[in-house]
Amino acid sequence: MRARMHDYFLGGSHNFGVDRAAAREVIASWPDIVSTVQQNRAFQHRVVRHFVRSGIRQFLELGSGIPTAGSVHEVAQSLAPESVVAYVDIDPITVAHSAHILRDDQRTAVVHADIADTDAVFGADAIRDLFDLDQPVGILMLGILHFVTDDDRAFGAVAGAQERVAPNSELAIWHPGALQGKPYLAGAEPSIERLYGDAGFPFTLRSRDQVRQLFGDWDVLEPGLVKLPEWRPDSPGGSPELPGHTGGFAGVARKERR
Ligand SMILES: C[S@@+](CC[C@H](N)C(=O)[O-])C[C@H]1O[C@@H](n2cnc3c(N)ncnc32)[C@H](O)[C@@H]1O
Repeated sequence: MRARMHDYFLGGSHNFGVDRAAAREVIASWPDIVSTVQQNRAFQHRVVRHFVRSGIRQFLELGSGIPTAGSVHEVAQSLAPESVVAYVDIDPITVAHSAHILRDDQRTAVVHADIADTDAVFGADAIRDLFDLDQPVGILMLGILHFVTDDDRAFGAVAGAQERVAPNSELAIWHPGALQGKPYLAGAEPSIERLYGDAGFPFTLRSRDQVRQLFGDWDVLEPGLVKLPEWRPDSPGGSPELPGHTGGFAGVARKERR
């Protein structure tokens, strides 16, 4: 359901009436969610283009949702057709839906796993068949780690993936952060946290320092950990920060050969 609500926020068509109703309830509490999700998608596109320019041809999206509305394989394969892309998600319906959409694409795989279970992710047949782990991988963890509410599991999910990949691999994270006095938290409307929590999808917002620590000892690339529109914008000014926008923290780091 989270993935299909996300699809609705992105303007996709892979959602049902119940998802749209839940998504509208979230929008009523926090209208900025739509533009935030769209900014995240634009960041994803810039990151994938950057990965391709860095020579990366293997892409791993952890907590992928449904690969629709301009997803990683579309961007990567439009620039480098030999690119292979694996999508990992914990939700079986999302995985079934995604596998159906990608059933004719031999260069993509969809894996059902908890990203905190590194062995399940990297041991999956589909990933072993598709990836050469001696070559760099571009890992994307966008809008996912806040759903891994336990810090040890979130840090373990990142560190586990980092250990498995070769030097020159890169990791992109976008993590929603401090909510900067959002009125919905104080107002009579149910808070967005309660809406997600009641639906069985609790999340946790982490500080800038915590998000920086998630990258571990990998080298964070310029411009560092920034708001979504500030990460290497396509045009000099980038897209303007939204009024009341949550910000959150976006960045990309590289595994150097040591
Ligand atoms: C908000 S969507 C983000 C989609 C995509 N990464 C993006 O940036 O557009 C979050 C997705 O993470 C998935 N998810 C949540 N917890 C997960 C976990 N522990 N392991 C794998 N996937 C998870 C949800 O099922 C959902 O599809």
